[in-house]
Amino acid sequence: MILKSDRLTHVHSDIRGPLYVEALRMQAAGTPVLKLNTGNPGNFGFKMPQSVRQALLEHVDDAVPYCDVRGMPAARKAILDYHLGRGLQGITMDDIFICNGVSEAVSMLMTALVGTDDEVLVPSPCYSLWSNNTYLGGGRPVYYRCDPKNDWNPDLEDMRSKITKHTKAVLVINPNNPTGAVYSRETLLAIAQLARENHLLLLADEIYDRLVMDDIPNYSMAALAPDMPCVTFNGLSKSHIICGFRCGWMVFSGPKEELSEVEQGVTALASMRLCGNTLTQLVIPAALADMDSTRAMMHPGGRLYEQSRATVEGLKKIPGVTQIPNRAAFYLFPGLEAGAFDFESDEDFAMKFLHEKHILVIPGHGFDWFEDLRFRIVMLPEPERITAAMESLGEFLDEHRR
Ligand SMILES: Cc1ncc(COP(=O)(O)O)c(C=O)c1O
Repeated sequence: MILKSDRLTHVHSDIRGPLYVEALRMQAAGTPVLKLNTGNPGNFGFKMPQSVRQALLEHVDDAVPYCDVRGMPAARKAILDYHLGRGLQGITMDDIFICNGVSEAVSMLMTALVGTDDEVLVPSPCYSLWSNNTYLGGGRPVYYRCDPKNDWNPDLEDMRSKITKHTKAVLVINPNNPTGAVYSRETLLAIAQLARENHLLLLADEIYDRLVMDDIPNYSMAALAPDMPCVTFNGLSKSHIICGFRCGWMVFSGPKEELSEVEQGVTALASMRLCGNTLTQLVIPAALADMDSTRAMMHPGGRLYEQSRATVEGLKKIPGVTQIPNRAAFYLFPGLEAGAFDFESDEDFAMKFLHEKHILVIPGHGFDWFEDLRFRIVMLPEPERITAAMESLGEFLDEHRR
């Protein structure tokens, strides 16, 4: 047998892992499954904005040649203006790399940054793209705790206690997947101060920054720490319902000399793949000029707002379920009271829920959460379907109550 690379030993993708494979098997055998595993709005009847469609159709011929390794100038100009508007300082178009999704941007940055024995502070729970890419670099993700008793805010003392001489960077996912939390200015400033004291690179995954409910203030980490090296990640998959286009980017900010080597590394990696997909870049200026459709989804009457309310209200009716309502994005990370149910583990819970009620959710382990029994709900179906799914969850839990 030809063995796989040992760099893959700890890599896991539970969102598309064994439970998902089982759901596909059930579907192939004729059982419909409600799949609440991926944040893929296009699968639930969400449509891309007309502005995006129009831009694609109008400019399609411009997408024919390879473009600059960093991305098309018009797209980078729009991204530059967006981040200047979010308060980033001293950045230019050359500090921006457009990639095939935030996923590719993270992969490139982490390949350029992480070497053997390097440690990166990542949140628990974590969107596993980040821990996986730390492993692939030969490094080690070290988890700092986000606290469900404190609205899922990062535990700063825990974060501080995890810093070692190997720590190279700290990741902040804000707004957060899977918790739906939005961090305050004070929290972000405190994390930046910790990074400053320990000479750490700040990594800010802000892909959900346009998907905040009720205009809750949300701040860009790089804007709050202009003196610090920071790489900010953002993209259009969710805010403009174009996950499949693969459209994301990263922005280097802070003291140029601090980041020049990593930036050169990223340039080399970007050059190796010649350029990002140009078709997706065509829509960036139009998309970033059109925030209205995204905002509308997050306010009363908007789909994401109403679907979140339906989920939260549905869960409130189920004894033994704890939750912290999301303030952004479309994820919830509820928990089950210890000892109240007969599940052996979070995987056992999710597999039984899939088999017995035909609903797929991802257990907490899939998000590097190892404390209590939790699972992530992707709140993308219409409110009536979500309400029915929460009723099924209630029946299921009644059947498994001790
Ligand atoms: C926190 C976070 N970062 C990055 C991504 C990847 O997004 P993209 O589609 O741009 O690769 C996701 C996707 O769900 C995400 O939740």
